[in-house]
Amino acid sequence: MNPIETEFNALASIYESNRLSSWYKAHADLVLNACTEHTNGKILDIGCGTGYLLRKLCQQNPRSLGVGIDIAHNMVREAGNKATSDNIENVRFIKGDWEEIDPSLLIKDNFNLILCSSSFHYFSKPLQSIKKIHALLAPGGVFILLERDKTQSLLTLAWDLVHRYLIKDHVVFYNESGLTDLCSKAGFDDVRVAERIKRYFWMNKFFTSLSLIQGIKQDSRGKF
Ligand SMILES: C[S@@+](CC[C@H](N)C(=O)[O-])C[C@H]1O[C@@H](n2cnc3c(N)ncnc32)[C@H](O)[C@@H]1O
Repeated sequence: MNPIETEFNALASIYESNRLSSWYKAHADLVLNACTEHTNGKILDIGCGTGYLLRKLCQQNPRSLGVGIDIAHNMVREAGNKATSDNIENVRFIKGDWEEIDPSLLIKDNFNLILCSSSFHYFSKPLQSIKKIHALLAPGGVFILLERDKTQSLLTLAWDLVHRYLIKDHVVFYNESGLTDLCSKAGFDDVRVAERIKRYFWMNKFFTSLSLIQGIKQDSRGKF
């Protein structure tokens, strides 16, 4: 099993209640605020975790249809159980590796909004992953990416180095321009940084710096 899958399978039952949960929930709320104008159609959340963001979005927008995908089956199970207990019927969660999934399994959905919140740094093929996102968006569809910027936070830079030289997995943290370049190369036309936020934690001694990037697919170019 992929080590990322193992890590998040183990975290699933406490993901919304452990000491980092308020941090991730605050990130999800940032994304929620950023996509209020684009929530009436089909929404895909990649690396959805326990689905906190997508459940809120679908609950607030009953005419939307949400699909969450995550590599960790325990995350997907938690997400589905929480949606059921909250009576949210316009959302479903599926287990899948975004890097490997056959886009033809999803393509009929042609999403209006695709979200990727704090998950992109796990992808080993970043450009290919964003090209797949571009291909699955309907013309006029919006992609929202929330990621840490390693050039603005020593903590994120240190974490990047730990992964690169000690853990030696494919987790990579980016700088903001690296992320916007990837979006442009994948075919997005109007790529912009919608928000930059510093998030403080642990007695306000440490912070990470987040960038919320938005890209719009203007037409049907850039097929995957
Ligand atoms: C830090 S969590 C973020 C979860 C959620 N988006 C949030 O904001 O709380 C990262 C999630 O990405 C998922 N993930 C990592 N690599 C993935 C991949 N290749 N395909 C799908 N999901 C992946 C993990 O299983 C995990 O649930």
